[in-house]
Amino acid sequence: MSTNNVLNITPIKFDEGKLLLLDQTKLPGEEIYIEIDTKEDMWDAIYHLKVRGAPAIGVAAAYGLYIEAVKYDGSSVTEFIQYTKEIADYLASARPTAVNLSWALRKMTDSLDRACISNPKEGKEKLLEEAMSIHKEDIEACLAMGEYGLSLLKPGMGILTHCNAGTIATAKYGTCLAPIYLGHERGYGFKVFADETRPLLQGARLTSWELNKAGVDVTLICDNMAATVMKKGWVDAVVVGCDRMAANGDGANKIGTSAVAILAKEYGIPFYMYVPTSTIDLNTETGDDIEIELRKGEEIYEMWYEKPMAPEGVKTFNPSFDVTDHKYITAVITEKGIVRPPYDLNLKALMKENEGKDGKLTE
Ligand code: MRU
Repeated sequence: MSTNNVLNITPIKFDEGKLLLLDQTKLPGEEIYIEIDTKEDMWDAIYHLKVRGAPAIGVAAAYGLYIEAVKYDGSSVTEFIQYTKEIADYLASARPTAVNLSWALRKMTDSLDRACISNPKEGKEKLLEEAMSIHKEDIEACLAMGEYGLSLLKPGMGILTHCNAGTIATAKYGTCLAPIYLGHERGYGFKVFADETRPLLQGARLTSWELNKAGVDVTLICDNMAATVMKKGWVDAVVVGCDRMAANGDGANKIGTSAVAILAKEYGIPFYMYVPTSTIDLNTETGDDIEIELRKGEEIYEMWYEKPMAPEGVKTFNPSFDVTDHKYITAVITEKGIVRPPYDLNLKALMKENEGKDGKLTE
């Protein structure tokens, strides 16, 4: 993929031991990088969505773990490994739903177990190597998903997306926005509808910013307008990301995704979920077993407003994700290929082929 404005944006930079993250809470107004020096900085950046999007939090946390682990100044290998695992557990507690976070941290600690290191210095080198490989593999996975995803789309299509699964939600290119960037470069002339994505406005602040910056035709709509643009016949496909896909194909993604999937079914529009294998969790049987992050009510009535938009003390319910039932998902796009129903069998087969390559499967 050749570069254009947006694809020159690097959400996670690691250079000469320094970790910089594009602070996504400041977008679209300001493009500011923050430096992460400690595990507390990293936890805070994940919790407050300065870095967000399932693959991006996995990559960032891997570097965050390394940044803290290099501070170990003892000489015991056992103690170093224990210290590293404690950092991993701490970082994993920042957000529960996206499996990429615990997946990346486990890859980091497993790399130490596998390497049979003879001193902490070797262990630190191993951790850096692993973090860089997680970073590189995510870029490659996004590019591959872009090509597979583009094979399902045609020039001139109207495409609706929810939340942000773009460049800044990953190491580069995005998951469900990757085919849009590839198609844009190849003259497909897509017309994209971006749901604003209440309450944290990832669609408005991030997706419309990214696509606009790249010169893609994007129209921002409120979440409750999706049915209207579908009914008008303006949407030929829905593309979304995923935070965790269970073994039966149920996929957790940003709150509101399942409503879009149900609408798409009603209007006969294909619904494509982009799920790198790092987001597939065969240890979780169904969507009911996925822990859904609950966030503060202030995000609904206060965060983006000059004054509170609800009476003081009103009760709130603010789940950050919902689960789209597998029956609404037309196809799952991974970096290894496109998976169709029956998902319970086909996801397992895909992951089996991948087994041993990433040390992830525990079945
Ligand atoms: O709360 P967020 O902004 O981290 O939620 C992000 C999403 O739901 C994305 O769609 C998902 O992580 C996939 S990102 C490639």
